[in-house]
Amino acid sequence: MINANLENKTALITGAASGIGFATAEMFASLGCKVALNDLPDNKRLTQSVNALLAKGYHAIAAPGDTGNEASATSMVSQAIEDLNGLDYLVNNAGTPGTRKPIPPNDLDTPDAAFWAQLLSVNLLGPWYCTKIALPSLRERNGAIVNTASIAGIAGNGSSSTYCATKAALISLTQEHARAFGPSVRVNAIAPGVVESDWDCRFERTEEMLASIPMKRAGLPIDYAEAILFLCAGGSYITGHILVVDGGLTTGPSAT
Ligand SMILES: NC(=O)c1ccc[n+]([C@@H]2O[C@H](COP(=O)([O-])OP(=O)(O)OC[C@H]3O[C@@H](n4cnc5c(N)ncnc54)[C@H](O)[C@@H]3O)[C@@H](O)[C@H]2O)c1
Repeated sequence: MINANLENKTALITGAASGIGFATAEMFASLGCKVALNDLPDNKRLTQSVNALLAKGYHAIAAPGDTGNEASATSMVSQAIEDLNGLDYLVNNAGTPGTRKPIPPNDLDTPDAAFWAQLLSVNLLGPWYCTKIALPSLRERNGAIVNTASIAGIAGNGSSSTYCATKAALISLTQEHARAFGPSVRVNAIAPGVVESDWDCRFERTEEMLASIPMKRAGLPIDYAEAILFLCAGGSYITGHILVVDGGLTTGPSAT
C-alpha cells in the first residue's frame, strides 16, 4: 500500500458505511486523518463502521444524511465541516444501482421516471450538492475532491443504461469542476470495475468472468481506497483525471 501522512487533515466520505467508502475511511484514518463517515440515516451499519474505527483509536465521526436530497446533503456537509473544523478532502462515493437485478439496455419499460429520478439524485446530484457546500472550506485548505464514477460511465454495460448515464454525467461533472476550481482545489474521479462489496445489484460472477479480467479477480474495496488516497494526498499536478481501477478489464479479455 502507498503511504501518506494525513495528520492534521480531514476528510468527508459519502456512502462510507461499507465497501469502497468504508475502506477509504479506514485507510485515511489509519494515516492520521480525521474522518467523517456519511451514509443514509437509517443504515445501521453506519454506527457500527464508525465504532469499528473508534475501537482502533482512530478519529471518526458519523455524518448521517441522504446525499441525494438537497436539504439533507446540505445540512450533513455543513455539520461535518463544523465538526471536523474544516475540510481537506471530499470523497463523493455514495451511489446506487436502484435495482437488484441488471436491467438490459433494450428494456425501455423498467427504468421509469421514478427510477431515473432516484439514480440521478443519488449518483449525480448528490456529488453536486456536497461539492457546492464543501467548496469554500476545500478552497481554504487547497483540498481535493474525488468522485466515485464507474467503468460503466465510460464503456457502458452497467446495471442499467440509467446507471451508466449517471456515471458518465459524473465523469463530465468531474472534468467541469476541475476546470472551475483549479488551482486551489483538484477534482478527480476513480472508475471502478468489478468490486467485491455488498453492492445492491448482484451480477452473476462466474469463474470464467473473473478469469477474463487480466488481474484474475474482482477489486477489493482497499484497491479502490488506495487510488482515492493517491488522488487526494498525492497527485498534486493531477486534476480532471478519471483513474480507471479495473484490473485491466476495459483493456479487453485476458490473453492468458
Ligand atoms: N460495486 C460495484 O460493482 C461498483 C462498480 C463501479 C462503481 N461502483 C461505485 O462505487 C461506489 C461505492 O459502492 P460499493 O461497491 O462500495 O457499494 P456499497 O453498497 O458497499 O456502498 C455504497 C454505500 O452508499 C450508501 N448510499 C446509497 N445511497 C446513499 C445516499 N443517498 N446517501 C448516502 N449514502 C448512500 C449505501 O447505503 C452504501 O453504504 C458507488 O458510487 C458505486 O456506484 C460500484
